[in-house]
This record gives sequence, structure tokens and C-alpha cells, in this order.
Amino acid sequence: MKMKGIVVYDTSYGNTKKIAETIAETLKEHGAENDLFYVKDVKKLNVNDYNFIIVGSPTRFGTMSFAIKFFFGKINNEWVNKPFAAFDTENPENVEKSRIEKKEWSAAEKIAEKLKDKKMKQMLPVLKALVFGQKGPLKEGEIKRTKEYAKEFAIKLKKEI
Ligand SMILES: Cc1cc2nc3c(=O)[nH]c(=O)nc-3n(C[C@H](O)[C@H](O)[C@H](O)COP(=O)(O)O)c2cc1C
Repeated sequence: MKMKGIVVYDTSYGNTKKIAETIAETLKEHGAENDLFYVKDVKKLNVNDYNFIIVGSPTRFGTMSFAIKFFFGKINNEWVNKPFAAFDTENPENVEKSRIEKKEWSAAEKIAEKLKDKKMKQMLPVLKALVFGQKGPLKEGEIKRTKEYAKEFAIKLKKEI
């Protein structure tokens, strides 16, 4: 199978979408073909179409959105050992809260747990892209950081597949 992945995201105000688009474009620039999907547009997920998955969600009440939670029902046990990465958007105060309470309030960490439960292979620590308030904007520098993250993922993927 040719190397091809799927990038799935949820969004309300467009910030997580921007991160997902940046990841998808950067992966392509580094030879990792992929399809980009808004989570509600994923009708059927065929394991034979994809070698890897990247999933992202806005953080809502310290976890992923309902649509992303629902999406995990589409990932069956044939995805075992496939590479994945997880990302989210969250507020800087949320990162601080997770640090102080030593408990993750991040959507991305919860996504990673779900995919690890499915015995998938986490390629990189999660990406937490910082946004201000509910609508954003993204903090300055987050697009650049996202590009670096996606590039690193593509490099690791080539060694893996
Ligand atoms: C109902 C609701 C709950 C939220 N809860 C959190 C939260 O627990 N932690 C956090 O960092 N941000 C929280 N936010 C802010 C979101 O993370 C922010 O709206 C989101 O990252 C923006 O992404 P989007 O533009 O892709 O929708 C919440 C936003 C909404 C609307």
C-alpha cells in the first residue's frame, strides 16, 4: 500500500481546523499523502485506505468534543499497530491547570489514550496548540510549531512504514 494517512479534526470557530490544515499540508510537503476530514464528514473509515491517522479536537471541559468521541467508534481492531498522533487546541490556563493538578485536562492527551487503548502506535507526544479564549485567535508562533511537528511526524513515519 502507498503511504497515505487521514487527518481528522473537529472545530467550532476554525482554530483547530487551521491546525489540521497546516498538519495536512506539511505532511504532503514531506511526502506523507493524506486526506483531511472534518470529523462529521467521515462517513466510513476503511482501514485498507490508510496507514496512519492524526486526530485533533478543541478542548471542551478538559476533554475532546462529542463528535471526536463518537468518531472513535469507527476505528476497529484492524488499526492495531498503525501510527498515530493527536493534537488539540486549548487555552494557556488549561496547560497550567494540568501542570498544577498533575492531571491532564487536554483533549489531545485523552485522544492519545483512546488510540493507545486500541493498541495503535503513538509516534510523537501530543501537540497542544494554544488559543486565547473560546474563539481564538491562536497564539503567535503556533502555526510554525505545528509545521515543525508535522515535519517530525513525516520523518518518523518514513522510518516506520
Ligand atoms: C463549551 C466549551 C468548553 C470549553 N472548555 C475548555 C477547556 O476545558 N479548556 C480549554 O483550554 N479550553 C476550553 N474551551 C475553549 C476551547 O478550547 C476553544 O474554543 C477551542 O480551542 C477553539 O477551537 P476551534 O476554533 O477549533 O473551535 C472551551 C470552549 C467551549 C465552547
